[in-house]
Order: sequence, then C-alpha cells, then structure tokens
Amino acid sequence: MALEEQDFLYVSKMVREESAIVLEKGKEYLVESRLSPLAQQDGYASIKEMVQKLRETGELVLKLKIVDALTTNETSFFRDLKPFEMLQKELLPELIEKRKDQKRLEIWCAAASTGQEIYTICMTIRENFPWLRDWNVRILGTDINQEVLDKARRGVYSQIEVNRGLPATMLIKYFEKSGIDWKIKDDLKSMTEFRKMNLIKPWGSVGRPDVIFMRNVLIYFDTDTKKEILGKVRNIMQPDGFLFLGAAETTLNLDENYVRRTYDRGGCYTLKGKDAK
Ligand SMILES: C[S@@+](CC[C@H](N)C(=O)[O-])C[C@H]1O[C@@H](n2cnc3c(N)ncnc32)[C@H](O)[C@@H]1O
Repeated sequence: MALEEQDFLYVSKMVREESAIVLEKGKEYLVESRLSPLAQQDGYASIKEMVQKLRETGELVLKLKIVDALTTNETSFFRDLKPFEMLQKELLPELIEKRKDQKRLEIWCAAASTGQEIYTICMTIRENFPWLRDWNVRILGTDINQEVLDKARRGVYSQIEVNRGLPATMLIKYFEKSGIDWKIKDDLKSMTEFRKMNLIKPWGSVGRPDVIFMRNVLIYFDTDTKKEILGKVRNIMQPDGFLFLGAAETTLNLDENYVRRTYDRGGCYTLKGKDAK
C-alpha cells in the first residue's frame, strides 16, 4: 500500500488545515503506516483509492477518520511524574488557600488522549486532598480525536496500560477488575467531563481554568499556531493560574507573557505580572 507523493502532499495539507498537525516531507512512512489499516478496514483496495474518494467527495466522516488516524495519542499514567508532584506539593495547596471562600477549582486537560493524564490528576486530588469532595471541582478533558475520548470516558485500561506508571497501591484503590482489564471506579470518573475539541477551532466553553495541562500537543504544530494557542490560553486561564506543557515544549520565543516556575528539573508557566500570590 505504498503512498504516492501527490497523495502524501494532499493528505498532509488537509490534516494541517483541519488539525494544525504538521506532517513534513520524510513523514511518508508514518502516514502510510497509519492510513494503511484504515484503508483496509474501510474496504479500500489501497490508500490511493481512499485518498481519491476523499478528493472526489470531500466526505467529512472520511476526513475526520484520516485526521484521527494521524494524531499521535501516546500517553501514560503519571507521565513524567514531576508535574503531578508539583501539582500536589505546591500548586494545589496554594490554590486551595486562595479559593477557600469560593470552594471552586477548574482544571483543563487540553489534549487528554485516552484519559491517563486526567485520571492521574483525579487520583492526585483524591489521594492528597480528600476534603475537596465538598468543593465544586471541575476537571475537563478535551481532544480532537473522538475515538480516544470515548476510551477516556469509558476509563477501561489493559494490564499493559496500567503497568505503565501507575503505582500498585493506586491501581488497587481506584480501579476495579473488568474481565481481563481494569476499570476506573465511578468515584473518580464522576470528577471528570470529556468533550471533543479542536485547539485550532473556537474553544467554546472551557471555563476559567486554574490549571491547564496542555502537554505534548503543541509539539505537532507550527510556530504561528503555537503562538496563537498560547495567546488564547492567556485569555481564558485564571490570572494566577498555571499552565503545564510537555517536557520538550516551551513558551520561550513564542509568548513573552509567561514566566517559568521551576520545580525540581521540571516546572510550569504562570502569567507575567499577574501572579496574585
Ligand atoms: C501525545 S498525546 C498527549 C496526551 C497527554 N496530554 C500526555 O501528555 O500524555 C497528543 C494528543 O493531542 C491531540 N491533538 C492533536 N491535535 C489536536 C488539535 N488540533 N486539537 C486538540 N487535540 C489535538 C491528539 O489527538 C492526541 O490525543
């Protein structure tokens, strides 16, 4: 199912327009390996035939399937560990003190993928701040990819998935067996809300988050898109809120309105001049 150059160019242009994901020359192999199973599954003789269908009909469902197939959904529980330690040891204690009158906290996981990140946040809260049960805590997970969101919403993970990063004590406490898999208990699930959202389209209601996890997604976008998204984050985040990016991502040279706050060898971002500590 080899991919011809003109089809690669057509697909990469479409994917960039729809999702901002940049697929530069040299990514032909990635596109081929992701689209080949999709073409087979949908009964096309080749990727070429599938792309031809898209060219002729512009069919939205097919377009979305191709975009979804070209998102990278790599994630795991407690990924990189430090952000969750920082959240637990520094950020949540500060926010809880500041918000103690309103008793309200909002957290937005802006590229939630299959949900491991958002449930890690939930476990961090339940484990260390059990009294937040009495607060109005909104934890929103969004992603462009409907399939991964559906999985996040179901909250069912394989043994291999829970083996990656999840301490055994947490597994026992917050999951229950579901056949050969593990299912997040309803108590944690009830803290969450999931919605399909494309970061390059209007955001709709994401509220005014106190903490935003936007990790390992800007890395797929070009500089202008990163700048635009970081600008939009500034407009919606609480003035004294916190933004987490992925370990390989930064606001540096993109948006000078953010200040890095370090923690161990990691850190997050706050808004310049607005940290009302
Ligand atoms: C590598 S995963 C990151 C998951 C999680 N944040 C983490 O760090 O473990 C990147 C996610 O970004 C999503 N994504 C890619 N482009 C997007 C867009 N334009 N809008 C919203 N989500 C997008 C993908 O579907 C994918 O699930």
